[in-house]
Amino acid sequence: MLTTIPDSADPIGLFRDWLKDAEASEPDVPNAMCVATVGAQGKPSTRMVLLKDVGATGFVFYTNTESRKGQEIAHNPFASICFHWKTLGRQVRVEGRLSLVSAAEADAYWATRPRGSQIAAWASDQSRPLDARATLENRVKDCEARFAGAPVPRPPHWLGYALDPEVIEFWLNVASRLHDRLVFTRQSRGWRQERLYP
Ligand SMILES: Cc1cc2nc3c(=O)[nH]c(=O)nc-3n(C[C@H](O)[C@H](O)[C@H](O)COP(=O)(O)O)c2cc1C
Repeated sequence: MLTTIPDSADPIGLFRDWLKDAEASEPDVPNAMCVATVGAQGKPSTRMVLLKDVGATGFVFYTNTESRKGQEIAHNPFASICFHWKTLGRQVRVEGRLSLVSAAEADAYWATRPRGSQIAAWASDQSRPLDARATLENRVKDCEARFAGAPVPRPPHWLGYALDPEVIEFWLNVASRLHDRLVFTRQSRGWRQERLYP
């Protein structure tokens, strides 16, 4: 059991260690994160998505670029994501700029998706009004017929966003509310590390 967050010159590596710990202890979706974006009126909105990669391009999730979040990101590419791992008493917050992953990267991930999820991505006009549940079910049937006997191609509006981290904050639950917080801010070379009051 951690009682303080270890010093690190590599917050991405530290994040990977914490995600691995969460994969071992969380009962479900340890890769779930809340993504906050900001709409044209300057008002924030949040939703959960699944982290699919932490790589050279940043923290990657996949979605419909025509969704509400997609439209907000098109207007303002800055976002904040937050993980909470209840079993570990840990939180990680990351802030930075989003960019779209390459079509090749999206294709590679798309190919790993179950066929039902691929059909759903075509059938759902994510975030737009749906008059009745039956309409969605009919659209699923139409897509199944359209792609019968063939691989389902990736819809052009189904892509990944990568958040390039500028700030990463680690938070650890400690008894008596004396929680530990370590914030890393990206510099031109490496990261500046600072401890915060809880
Ligand atoms: C645990 C969890 C994981 C989710 N993962 C995703 C995801 O990876 N991609 C996605 O588009 N929506 C995901 N959703 C649904 C989103 O929270 C949201 O309803 C949807 O993306 C539409 O958001 P928007 O209207 O803000 O664009 C997930 C929901 C939950 C509860």
